[in-house]
Amino acid sequence: MDFRTATPADVPSLYTLWAAAFDAPLMVPVYETDADRLDRTIVAVLPGTGAEPDRVVASVCWSPRTLVGLPGPGGAATTLTVGGIANVASAPDVRGRGLVRLALAAAVERMEAAGMDASLLFTGTPGVYRPSGWETFEVPVVTGPLRPDGAARPGHSGAAGQPGSARQPGSARLVVRHERPAHAASAAPTTFPAWSTDLPWQDLATLHDAFHDAPVTTRRTAEHWQHRVPLWYSAAELLTARRPDGTIAGYLVAESEGEVVRVRELAVGPDDTSAVEALARAARALALERGATRAEVRLPHIPATTVLTDVLLAAEDRETTSDATGMLRPVRRAAAEIDALRAATSGPAAGFHWPGDYL
Ligand SMILES: CC(C)(COP(=O)(O)OP(=O)(O)OC[C@H]1O[C@@H](n2cnc3c(N)ncnc32)[C@H](O)[C@@H]1OP(=O)(O)O)[C@@H](O)C(=O)NCCC(=O)NCCS
Repeated sequence: MDFRTATPADVPSLYTLWAAAFDAPLMVPVYETDADRLDRTIVAVLPGTGAEPDRVVASVCWSPRTLVGLPGPGGAATTLTVGGIANVASAPDVRGRGLVRLALAAAVERMEAAGMDASLLFTGTPGVYRPSGWETFEVPVVTGPLRPDGAARPGHSGAAGQPGSARQPGSARLVVRHERPAHAASAAPTTFPAWSTDLPWQDLATLHDAFHDAPVTTRRTAEHWQHRVPLWYSAAELLTARRPDGTIAGYLVAESEGEVVRVRELAVGPDDTSAVEALARAARALALERGATRAEVRLPHIPATTVLTDVLLAAEDRETTSDATGMLRPVRRAAAEIDALRAATSGPAAGFHWPGDYL
Protein backbone atom coordinates (compact mmCIF):
# COMPACT_ATOMS: atom_id res chain seq x y z
CA MET A 1 0.00 0.00 0.00
CA ASP A 2 1.28 3.38 -1.03
CA PHE A 3 0.54 6.49 1.15
CA ARG A 4 1.23 9.73 -0.70
CA THR A 5 -0.26 13.03 -1.80
CA ALA A 6 -2.83 12.80 -4.57
CA THR A 7 -2.04 13.46 -8.23
CA PRO A 8 -4.41 14.54 -11.02
CA ALA A 9 -4.45 10.90 -12.20
CA ASP A 10 -5.93 9.84 -8.82
CA VAL A 11 -8.92 12.16 -9.05
CA PRO A 12 -11.46 9.83 -10.78
CA SER A 13 -10.67 7.04 -8.32
CA LEU A 14 -10.75 9.50 -5.39
CA TYR A 15 -14.21 10.74 -6.37
CA THR A 16 -15.41 7.14 -6.77
CA LEU A 17 -14.21 6.46 -3.22
CA TRP A 18 -16.10 9.50 -1.88
CA ALA A 19 -19.26 8.59 -3.80
CA ALA A 20 -19.20 5.19 -2.07
CA ALA A 21 -18.46 6.65 1.39
CA PHE A 22 -20.61 9.80 1.56
CA ASP A 23 -24.01 11.11 0.57
CA ALA A 24 -22.73 14.69 0.29
CA PRO A 25 -23.41 16.43 -3.02
CA LEU A 26 -21.44 19.51 -1.98
CA MET A 27 -18.27 17.65 -1.13
CA VAL A 28 -16.63 17.74 -4.55
CA PRO A 29 -17.73 21.29 -5.50
CA VAL A 30 -16.44 22.64 -2.16
CA TYR A 31 -13.20 20.62 -2.48
CA GLU A 32 -12.68 22.07 -5.94
CA THR A 33 -12.78 25.65 -4.62
CA ASP A 34 -9.34 24.95 -3.10
CA ALA A 35 -6.58 25.47 -5.68
CA ASP A 36 -3.97 23.52 -3.65
CA ARG A 37 -6.24 20.63 -2.79
CA LEU A 38 -4.24 17.75 -4.29
CA ASP A 39 -1.06 18.68 -2.40
CA ARG A 40 -3.04 18.45 0.82
CA THR A 41 -4.91 15.24 0.04
CA ILE A 42 -3.32 12.07 1.46
CA VAL A 43 -4.36 8.93 -0.38
CA ALA A 44 -3.76 5.25 0.26
CA VAL A 45 -3.32 3.64 -3.14
CA LEU A 46 -3.45 0.00 -4.20
CA PRO A 47 -1.09 -0.23 -7.18
CA GLY A 48 -2.74 -1.32 -10.42
CA THR A 49 -1.96 -4.63 -12.06
CA GLY A 50 -1.58 -4.71 -15.83
CA ALA A 51 -4.68 -3.10 -17.34
CA GLU A 52 -6.05 -2.26 -13.88
CA PRO A 53 -5.27 1.36 -12.90
CA ASP A 54 -4.13 2.38 -9.41
CA ARG A 55 -7.01 2.43 -6.95
CA VAL A 56 -7.45 5.04 -4.21
CA VAL A 57 -8.79 3.15 -1.19
CA ALA A 58 -8.51 5.76 1.58
CA SER A 59 -8.25 9.54 1.83
CA VAL A 60 -7.64 12.34 4.33
CA CYS A 61 -7.60 16.03 3.31
CA TRP A 62 -6.28 18.93 5.34
CA SER A 63 -6.35 22.65 4.69
CA PRO A 64 -4.93 25.57 6.64
CA ARG A 65 -7.22 27.90 8.57
CA THR A 66 -6.59 30.84 10.87
CA LEU A 67 -8.18 30.46 14.27
CA VAL A 68 -8.50 32.94 17.13
CA GLY A 69 -6.52 31.57 20.08
CA LEU A 70 -6.65 32.20 23.82
CA PRO A 71 -5.81 35.81 24.81
CA GLY A 72 -2.08 36.40 25.15
CA PRO A 73 -0.26 38.36 27.90
CA GLY A 74 -2.23 41.48 28.79
CA GLY A 75 -5.29 40.14 26.97
CA ALA A 76 -3.79 40.66 23.51
CA ALA A 77 -5.52 38.82 20.68
CA THR A 78 -3.67 35.79 19.32
CA THR A 79 -4.19 33.56 16.32
CA LEU A 80 -3.19 30.01 15.50
CA THR A 81 -2.81 28.26 12.20
CA VAL A 82 -4.78 25.04 12.22
CA GLY A 83 -5.13 22.24 9.72
CA GLY A 84 -8.80 21.49 9.15
CA ILE A 85 -9.33 17.78 8.43
CA ALA A 86 -12.04 16.66 6.02
CA ASN A 87 -13.04 14.07 3.41
CA VAL A 88 -11.86 11.15 5.56
CA ALA A 89 -12.89 7.88 3.97
CA SER A 90 -11.88 4.33 3.21
CA ALA A 91 -13.39 1.95 0.68
CA PRO A 92 -15.99 -0.41 2.17
CA ASP A 93 -13.93 -3.51 1.28
CA VAL A 94 -10.80 -2.34 3.16
CA ARG A 95 -12.27 -0.87 6.33
CA GLY A 96 -11.06 -1.90 9.77
CA ARG A 97 -7.47 -2.43 8.63
CA GLY A 98 -5.98 0.77 9.99
CA LEU A 99 -5.69 2.58 6.63
CA VAL A 100 -7.39 5.74 7.87
CA ARG A 101 -5.27 5.73 11.00
CA LEU A 102 -2.13 5.63 8.82
CA ALA A 103 -3.48 8.33 6.49
CA LEU A 104 -4.25 10.55 9.51
CA ALA A 105 -0.66 10.03 10.75
CA ALA A 106 0.64 11.05 7.30
CA ALA A 107 -1.57 14.16 7.39
CA VAL A 108 -0.25 15.10 10.86
CA GLU A 109 3.33 14.74 9.58
CA ARG A 110 2.59 17.08 6.69
CA MET A 111 0.70 19.56 8.86
CA GLU A 112 3.70 19.65 11.20
CA ALA A 113 6.09 20.26 8.29
CA ALA A 114 3.77 23.03 7.05
CA GLY A 115 3.90 24.77 10.44
CA MET A 116 0.35 24.06 11.68
CA ASP A 117 -0.12 24.79 15.39
CA ALA A 118 -3.05 22.42 15.79
CA SER A 119 -5.67 20.51 13.85
CA LEU A 120 -9.44 20.81 14.00
CA LEU A 121 -12.25 18.69 12.59
CA PHE A 122 -15.98 17.99 12.91
CA THR A 123 -17.31 14.46 12.98
CA GLY A 124 -20.14 12.22 14.04
CA THR A 125 -17.64 9.39 14.71
CA PRO A 126 -15.08 10.70 17.22
CA GLY A 127 -13.86 7.14 17.77
CA VAL A 128 -12.08 7.32 14.41
CA TYR A 129 -9.93 10.27 15.51
CA ARG A 130 -9.43 9.81 19.26
CA PRO A 131 -6.83 7.04 18.84
CA SER A 132 -4.90 9.47 16.60
CA GLY A 133 -4.78 12.29 19.15
CA TRP A 134 -7.85 14.47 18.49
CA GLU A 135 -10.07 15.26 21.49
CA THR A 136 -13.68 16.44 21.56
CA PHE A 137 -14.81 19.93 22.56
CA GLU A 138 -18.35 20.99 23.32
CA VAL A 139 -20.40 23.99 22.26
CA PRO A 140 -23.85 25.02 23.53
CA VAL A 141 -26.96 24.43 21.42
CA VAL A 142 -30.35 25.91 22.32
CA THR A 143 -33.44 24.27 20.84
CA GLY A 144 -37.15 24.80 21.31
CA PRO A 145 -40.48 25.51 19.65
CA LEU A 146 -40.66 28.59 17.44
CA ARG A 147 -42.64 31.49 18.81
CA PRO A 148 -45.85 31.10 16.85
CA ASP A 149 -46.78 34.77 16.44
CA GLY A 150 -45.23 35.63 13.13
CA ALA A 151 -43.92 38.98 11.98
CA ALA A 152 -43.86 40.42 8.50
CA ARG A 153 -42.16 38.12 6.06
CA PRO A 154 -38.76 39.44 4.95
CA GLY A 155 -38.56 40.79 1.43
CA HIS A 156 -36.29 39.13 -1.08
CA SER A 157 -33.94 40.13 -3.81
CA GLY A 158 -33.24 38.26 -6.97
CA ALA A 159 -35.76 36.64 -9.23
CA ALA A 160 -38.07 39.61 -9.53
CA GLY A 161 -35.15 41.95 -10.06
CA GLN A 162 -36.31 44.33 -7.35
CA PRO A 163 -34.91 43.93 -3.86
CA GLY A 164 -37.81 43.51 -1.47
CA SER A 165 -37.88 44.47 2.15
CA ALA A 166 -40.00 44.30 5.26
CA ARG A 167 -39.85 46.91 7.98
CA GLN A 168 -39.48 45.23 11.33
CA PRO A 169 -41.15 46.47 14.49
CA GLY A 170 -38.65 47.67 17.08
CA SER A 171 -36.04 48.64 14.51
CA ALA A 172 -37.55 51.57 12.67
CA ARG A 173 -34.43 52.38 10.69
CA LEU A 174 -33.60 48.86 9.55
CA VAL A 175 -35.12 46.74 6.86
CA VAL A 176 -34.38 43.04 6.49
CA ARG A 177 -33.64 41.73 3.06
CA HIS A 178 -33.75 38.11 1.97
CA GLU A 179 -30.75 37.67 -0.33
CA ARG A 180 -31.41 35.18 -3.06
CA PRO A 181 -29.76 34.69 -6.42
CA ALA A 182 -32.20 34.49 -9.33
CA HIS A 183 -31.78 30.75 -9.84
CA ALA A 184 -32.72 29.98 -6.22
CA ALA A 185 -36.32 29.70 -7.37
CA SER A 186 -35.44 26.53 -9.31
CA ALA A 187 -37.82 23.68 -8.49
CA ALA A 188 -35.15 21.05 -9.13
CA PRO A 189 -32.58 20.29 -6.43
CA THR A 190 -29.52 22.29 -7.44
CA THR A 191 -26.09 23.05 -6.14
CA PHE A 192 -25.82 26.79 -6.25
CA PRO A 193 -24.44 29.54 -4.09
CA ALA A 194 -26.86 30.79 -1.46
CA TRP A 195 -26.38 34.38 -2.45
CA SER A 196 -25.25 36.40 -5.44
CA THR A 197 -21.60 36.95 -5.97
CA ASP A 198 -22.26 40.70 -6.20
CA LEU A 199 -23.28 40.80 -2.52
CA PRO A 200 -20.75 42.98 -0.65
CA TRP A 201 -19.14 40.05 1.14
CA GLN A 202 -16.54 42.41 2.63
CA ASP A 203 -19.31 43.89 4.78
CA LEU A 204 -20.24 40.42 6.03
CA ALA A 205 -16.56 39.64 6.70
CA THR A 206 -16.07 42.85 8.70
CA LEU A 207 -19.19 42.17 10.77
CA HIS A 208 -18.20 38.51 11.25
CA ASP A 209 -14.68 39.26 12.46
CA ALA A 210 -15.73 42.07 14.83
CA PHE A 211 -18.67 40.11 16.25
CA HIS A 212 -16.78 36.82 16.64
CA ASP A 213 -13.44 37.60 18.21
CA ALA A 214 -13.33 34.92 20.89
CA PRO A 215 -11.17 31.77 20.93
CA VAL A 216 -11.83 29.12 18.27
CA THR A 217 -13.41 31.58 15.84
CA THR A 218 -12.30 31.10 12.24
CA ARG A 219 -10.85 33.95 10.25
CA ARG A 220 -12.05 33.37 6.69
CA THR A 221 -10.09 34.51 3.66
CA ALA A 222 -11.54 36.53 0.76
CA GLU A 223 -11.51 33.33 -1.25
CA HIS A 224 -13.62 31.58 1.42
CA TRP A 225 -16.15 34.42 1.51
CA GLN A 226 -16.47 34.59 -2.24
CA HIS A 227 -16.58 30.90 -3.13
CA ARG A 228 -16.57 28.36 -0.31
CA VAL A 229 -19.05 29.99 2.08
CA PRO A 230 -21.89 30.74 -0.39
CA LEU A 231 -21.48 27.28 -1.88
CA TRP A 232 -21.54 25.58 1.49
CA TYR A 233 -24.73 27.48 2.32
CA SER A 234 -26.48 26.24 -0.84
CA ALA A 235 -29.45 24.98 1.14
CA ALA A 236 -29.48 27.95 3.52
CA GLU A 237 -30.97 31.42 3.35
CA LEU A 238 -29.20 34.69 4.03
CA LEU A 239 -30.96 37.63 5.67
CA THR A 240 -29.28 41.04 5.83
CA ALA A 241 -30.43 43.94 8.03
CA ARG A 242 -30.01 47.09 5.95
CA ARG A 243 -29.79 50.71 6.99
CA PRO A 244 -31.72 53.26 4.94
CA ASP A 245 -28.64 53.85 2.76
CA GLY A 246 -28.45 50.11 1.95
CA THR A 247 -25.36 49.34 4.05
CA ILE A 248 -25.45 46.13 6.05
CA ALA A 249 -25.93 46.38 9.82
CA GLY A 250 -26.05 42.63 10.40
CA TYR A 251 -26.71 39.26 8.85
CA LEU A 252 -28.15 35.89 9.76
CA VAL A 253 -27.94 32.57 7.93
CA ALA A 254 -30.75 30.06 8.53
CA GLU A 255 -31.42 26.64 7.10
CA SER A 256 -34.85 25.00 7.26
CA GLU A 257 -35.02 21.24 7.13
CA GLY A 258 -38.40 19.65 7.75
CA GLU A 259 -39.73 20.92 11.05
CA VAL A 260 -36.49 22.51 12.21
CA VAL A 261 -34.86 25.80 11.29
CA ARG A 262 -31.18 25.98 12.21
CA VAL A 263 -29.54 29.35 12.76
CA ARG A 264 -26.16 28.76 11.18
CA GLU A 265 -24.59 32.13 11.68
CA LEU A 266 -25.23 35.61 13.08
CA ALA A 267 -23.23 38.83 13.18
CA VAL A 268 -24.23 42.43 13.97
CA GLY A 269 -22.34 45.60 14.88
CA PRO A 270 -21.32 46.24 18.52
CA ASP A 271 -24.35 46.19 20.88
CA ASP A 272 -26.76 46.49 17.95
CA THR A 273 -29.69 44.81 19.67
CA SER A 274 -32.19 46.21 17.18
CA ALA A 275 -30.39 44.48 14.27
CA VAL A 276 -30.48 41.14 16.13
CA GLU A 277 -34.18 41.60 16.87
CA ALA A 278 -34.97 42.54 13.28
CA LEU A 279 -33.04 39.55 11.91
CA ALA A 280 -34.59 37.18 14.45
CA ARG A 281 -38.13 38.33 13.60
CA ALA A 282 -37.44 37.92 9.91
CA ALA A 283 -35.86 34.49 10.46
CA ARG A 284 -38.89 33.39 12.49
CA ALA A 285 -41.31 34.59 9.81
CA LEU A 286 -39.32 32.84 7.10
CA ALA A 287 -39.09 29.62 9.14
CA LEU A 288 -42.85 29.60 9.76
CA GLU A 289 -43.38 30.10 6.05
CA ARG A 290 -41.09 27.12 5.36
CA GLY A 291 -43.22 24.97 7.67
CA ALA A 292 -40.75 24.81 10.57
CA THR A 293 -42.09 24.46 14.11
CA ARG A 294 -38.78 24.28 16.01
CA ALA A 295 -35.51 26.19 15.95
CA GLU A 296 -31.94 25.26 16.80
CA VAL A 297 -29.41 27.95 17.68
CA ARG A 298 -25.79 26.89 17.80
CA LEU A 299 -24.07 30.06 18.92
CA PRO A 300 -21.92 30.96 21.94
CA HIS A 301 -23.55 32.19 25.17
CA ILE A 302 -23.25 35.91 24.40
CA PRO A 303 -25.91 38.58 25.00
CA ALA A 304 -26.86 38.68 21.30
CA THR A 305 -27.68 34.95 21.41
CA THR A 306 -30.13 35.60 24.25
CA VAL A 307 -31.79 38.40 22.27
CA LEU A 308 -32.01 36.13 19.23
CA THR A 309 -33.45 33.14 21.08
CA ASP A 310 -35.99 35.31 22.94
CA VAL A 311 -37.43 36.54 19.65
CA LEU A 312 -37.14 33.22 17.82
CA LEU A 313 -38.20 30.68 20.45
CA ALA A 314 -41.24 30.31 22.67
CA ALA A 315 -40.43 30.98 26.32
CA GLU A 316 -41.42 27.44 27.33
CA ASP A 317 -39.79 24.11 26.52
CA ARG A 318 -36.38 25.45 25.60
CA GLU A 319 -33.52 23.07 26.04
CA THR A 320 -29.78 23.75 26.18
CA THR A 321 -27.62 20.85 25.13
CA SER A 322 -24.07 20.41 23.93
CA ASP A 323 -22.82 19.71 20.46
CA ALA A 324 -19.71 17.57 20.71
CA THR A 325 -18.88 17.07 17.05
CA GLY A 326 -15.79 19.32 17.12
CA MET A 327 -12.33 17.88 17.88
CA LEU A 328 -8.93 19.52 18.31
CA ARG A 329 -5.44 18.06 18.32
CA PRO A 330 -2.12 19.75 19.04
CA VAL A 331 0.37 19.69 16.18
CA ARG A 332 3.25 22.10 16.94
CA ARG A 333 1.74 23.74 20.03
CA ALA A 334 1.90 22.14 23.47
CA ALA A 335 -0.93 19.78 24.43
CA ALA A 336 -1.69 21.94 27.51
CA GLU A 337 -2.39 24.99 25.34
CA ILE A 338 -4.73 23.10 23.03
CA ASP A 339 -6.45 21.49 26.05
CA ALA A 340 -7.09 25.02 27.41
CA LEU A 341 -8.48 26.07 24.03
CA ARG A 342 -10.83 23.07 24.00
CA ALA A 343 -11.99 23.90 27.51
CA ALA A 344 -12.77 27.48 26.44
CA THR A 345 -15.36 26.42 23.86
CA SER A 346 -18.12 25.73 26.35
CA GLY A 347 -17.41 28.74 28.57
CA PRO A 348 -18.96 32.19 28.43
CA ALA A 349 -16.10 33.52 26.27
CA ALA A 350 -16.40 30.77 23.69
CA GLY A 351 -15.96 31.70 20.09
CA PHE A 352 -18.14 30.83 17.21
CA HIS A 353 -16.98 28.14 14.87
CA TRP A 354 -18.76 26.70 12.01
CA PRO A 355 -18.22 23.21 10.59
CA GLY A 356 -18.63 24.50 7.04
CA ASP A 357 -15.34 26.34 7.40
CA TYR A 358 -13.62 23.01 7.64
CA LEU A 359 -15.60 20.35 5.83
C1 LIG B 1 -15.11 5.93 9.30
C2 LIG B 1 -14.10 5.35 8.32
C3 LIG B 1 -13.30 6.48 7.70
C4 LIG B 1 -13.15 4.43 9.12
O1 LIG B 1 -12.19 3.91 8.23
P1 LIG B 1 -11.33 2.60 8.58
O2 LIG B 1 -10.46 2.34 7.40
O3 LIG B 1 -12.22 1.51 9.02
O4 LIG B 1 -10.49 3.13 9.81
P2 LIG B 1 -9.27 2.41 10.53
O5 LIG B 1 -9.31 0.94 10.27
O6 LIG B 1 -8.02 3.13 10.17
O7 LIG B 1 -9.62 2.66 12.05
C5 LIG B 1 -9.11 3.79 12.76
C6 LIG B 1 -9.76 3.80 14.14
O8 LIG B 1 -11.13 4.23 13.99
C7 LIG B 1 -12.00 3.34 14.67
N1 LIG B 1 -13.24 3.32 13.90
C8 LIG B 1 -13.42 2.91 12.64
N2 LIG B 1 -14.69 3.13 12.24
C9 LIG B 1 -15.33 3.69 13.30
C10 LIG B 1 -16.65 4.17 13.51
N3 LIG B 1 -17.58 4.11 12.55
N4 LIG B 1 -16.95 4.69 14.71
C11 LIG B 1 -16.02 4.79 15.68
N5 LIG B 1 -14.74 4.37 15.54
C12 LIG B 1 -14.41 3.82 14.36
C13 LIG B 1 -11.26 2.03 14.66
O9 LIG B 1 -11.68 1.21 15.73
C14 LIG B 1 -9.82 2.44 14.78
O10 LIG B 1 -9.48 2.65 16.13
P3 LIG B 1 -8.23 1.81 16.77
O11 LIG B 1 -7.05 2.18 15.91
O12 LIG B 1 -8.14 2.27 18.18
O13 LIG B 1 -8.61 0.37 16.62
C15 LIG B 1 -14.79 4.50 7.21
O14 LIG B 1 -15.65 3.58 7.82
C16 LIG B 1 -15.60 5.32 6.23
O15 LIG B 1 -15.08 5.73 5.18
N6 LIG B 1 -16.89 5.59 6.54
C17 LIG B 1 -17.76 6.40 5.70
C18 LIG B 1 -17.32 7.85 5.67
C19 LIG B 1 -17.17 8.47 7.04
O16 LIG B 1 -17.98 8.28 7.93
N7 LIG B 1 -16.07 9.24 7.22
C20 LIG B 1 -15.77 9.93 8.45
C21 LIG B 1 -16.52 11.20 8.45
S1 LIG B 1 -16.07 12.25 9.79
